[in-house]
Amino acid sequence: MWKIIGTAIAFLVAATIFSTYLAAKRRADKFKKDNPGLQVYTLLVPLFSPLRIFHLLPKWLPWLIYDMSDKQMAKGFTTEKGTDALAICDSDVSYFLLRDPALCHDIMVNRYKEIVKPVHTYVLIDIYGSNIVTTEGATWRRHRKIAGPVFGERNNALVHEASLRIANEMFAAWPTDQTALIDISEEMMQFALYVIASAGFGKDFAWTDKEGDIPAGHTLSFKTTMKTVIENLMNYVMFPDWSLSKLARTSRKEFGQYMDEMIEEAIADGDSLSPNILQALTKAAFAENESSKLTKEEIRANGFIMIVAGHETTANTLAYAFALLALHPDIQDTLYQHCIEVLGGRDPEYADFSKLTYSLAVMNETLRLYPQVIAIPKYSADQTVVIGKHVLPPKTEIHIEVTAIHKNPDIWGPDVDEFKPERFLSTDEARQNAVKIGWIPFSEGPRACVGKKFSQVEFVVVLTMVIMRYRVGVPEGVSREHLLESASLFTLKPKHNVKLVFSRR
Ligand code: HEM
Repeated sequence: MWKIIGTAIAFLVAATIFSTYLAAKRRADKFKKDNPGLQVYTLLVPLFSPLRIFHLLPKWLPWLIYDMSDKQMAKGFTTEKGTDALAICDSDVSYFLLRDPALCHDIMVNRYKEIVKPVHTYVLIDIYGSNIVTTEGATWRRHRKIAGPVFGERNNALVHEASLRIANEMFAAWPTDQTALIDISEEMMQFALYVIASAGFGKDFAWTDKEGDIPAGHTLSFKTTMKTVIENLMNYVMFPDWSLSKLARTSRKEFGQYMDEMIEEAIADGDSLSPNILQALTKAAFAENESSKLTKEEIRANGFIMIVAGHETTANTLAYAFALLALHPDIQDTLYQHCIEVLGGRDPEYADFSKLTYSLAVMNETLRLYPQVIAIPKYSADQTVVIGKHVLPPKTEIHIEVTAIHKNPDIWGPDVDEFKPERFLSTDEARQNAVKIGWIPFSEGPRACVGKKFSQVEFVVVLTMVIMRYRVGVPEGVSREHLLESASLFTLKPKHNVKLVFSRR
């Protein structure tokens, strides 16, 4: 009996694998036929299968199982000269990976109506409903028209104030010793979350208060719900509601309630509240006429998406920047001298942002080497699209390969792998051209990041303040490879928390 069941299961597995392979091969053959000369890979295991994402496939499996291993993909695509595009077909999807900067620029800036965003892949961040990140076409334009201007100078000034206050609270909580080992990944995660809470929602969290107040009508604090929702994003999508922890379920519900209350407050209020993102969004949305406004649910969804888009991205970039500065004491010295020259040792004011050019150059160069979004996804939707000489069938997912462009020696020169913030300050024409065509960490065109300046202000304030107070070093026995080893799921982050030695100046 067991033998029969075992044989049946083995047969089913083999048949599934075989039919998956045939489906992938059919796609690949079609792609090859339409695009002679293009390198096309067939994947037996789908590219975004949990088996791949969570590295569950044993390393010893023969190459045929992958057809193209992750290593080959990274190496073959990012470093080999002459490969500006390739295709990968699995049983479900055809992917077209592109690293030609001019074609990528054209897609992002000019062809955004035709080559759209694959919004069907964004279900993970739709948990409070559709929003500026997860919509396309006329709906997206309605979201963007209202949300875009919210990220103006008034909000940037708020970001500055919040960053300054939170950074000072953070320093007060750091050890008083001359030298201390600090987990800067963790600190920057908390820092960036608190900045969003303040500039995004008007909630000023105290650095050392881990819990936060619980107002009437709630069982959890705003702080707990916000942190828990962010930590459980993946769980909300992957697991049924009943299997989630009570904290995760309650947080999702109560975080939504908190946002609803703030939206009602902003509607009732005149102009007296500070212009945090949620309030400014609400006011801007309700100033529109009926057909172009955002509903309360849409405002809530956009409020939430700002945390998703703006928290880890900035925190990870800061963690990488500190690691890179610890590895390059000479660059750290230049940065320190620059900050002292501009500020003379005082804390920065918002008006100083434009003068702290070296701090911003450190951010730009960090994002060049470690872009948070390693590939910007686009989609051919229901039509065949032609990109350069390539013909892509309907439903092709197009990846703008940010890392490959950022690390292309033809654009950046032979020192492409080196950490050199000066690239972004150079008046040399070739250097300036490289930045113009080869630097896209915030995307480009109408769908570029709305929070670019938000993150820049936040980054420049905290980096400048830390470097004026501390010298940052690599702990003994920790290698460069260990420090910078990366993992990418939604964003690119250091695989191991970055722990550095901070010595008071
Ligand atoms: C270092 C920090 C950041 C990086 C590298 C970054 C990068 C990006 C990129 C590459 C996109 C385009 C994604 C795509 O098309 O698939 C994007 C979009 C977006 N970002 Fe950021 N981002 C950062 C910080 C922020 C912050 C702080 C906020 C808000 C507080 C934010 C809000 C958004 C929003 C709302 C969009 C969607 C825009 C649209 O589709 O119209 N980002 N970001």
